Amino acid sequence: MNTIDDIIRARRSHFVKEFNGLTVPEEVIQRVLENARWAPSHKLTLPWKFRVFSGEEKNVLCQTMERYYMEHTPVEQFNEGKLAKIRTFPSKISHIISIGFVPSEKVPEWEELAATAMAVQNIYLTLTAHPHAAGYWTTGNGAGSDFMKKQTGLPETGKQLGFFFVGMVDEKRHDAERPHQ
Ligand SMILES: Cc1cc2nc3c(=O)[nH]c(=O)nc-3n(C[C@H](O)[C@H](O)[C@H](O)COP(=O)(O)O)c2cc1C
Repeated sequence: MNTIDDIIRARRSHFVKEFNGLTVPEEVIQRVLENARWAPSHKLTLPWKFRVFSGEEKNVLCQTMERYYMEHTPVEQFNEGKLAKIRTFPSKISHIISIGFVPSEKVPEWEELAATAMAVQNIYLTLTAHPHAAGYWTTGNGAGSDFMKKQTGLPETGKQLGFFFVGMVDEKRHDAERPHQ
């Protein structure tokens, strides 16, 4: 994978059911976070707040997601399959990166939301360069709630934008379709 075109187009979301349960090396996580920091932000406010959960702390967060699903899902939407999937999280996911930002009030809030999304793209692209480390941005599992804001250590003024689930996969998928625009 050499050119920028190749890297952008080979980037894929890999999901929990594809994770093999192995641990992503710490240096990969550090590289992901360092490259996230190189995203552009107006007035260089670097608004994003990423918090990495690994090991036992990651397992506790997964259990919190399970509890959140049980306590917040309306009865008519409750799905045993979804619950069973959440219960696989601790054994499948290697690291969870909570995605959030804190508005600096130096620029409009939407610009800092946009800058944070660009930082997440850098996470995605950095993982693309690794043969087995992979993941995806999820906005399910209580993302955006005040409850998850507290659980992930964001201040009251912060915005919680979901989670990047990271894991190891045996083989990456690279092909995808994009409709013509
Ligand atoms: C802001 C955002 C939120 C997302 N939330 C979810 C999600 O909650 N669940 C999910 O399965 N995928 C989620 N995704 C991943 C998309 O489903 C995925 O990017 C899309 O299917 C295209 O696949 P690709 O990333 O491999 O190109 C999200 C992506 C973005 C950018």
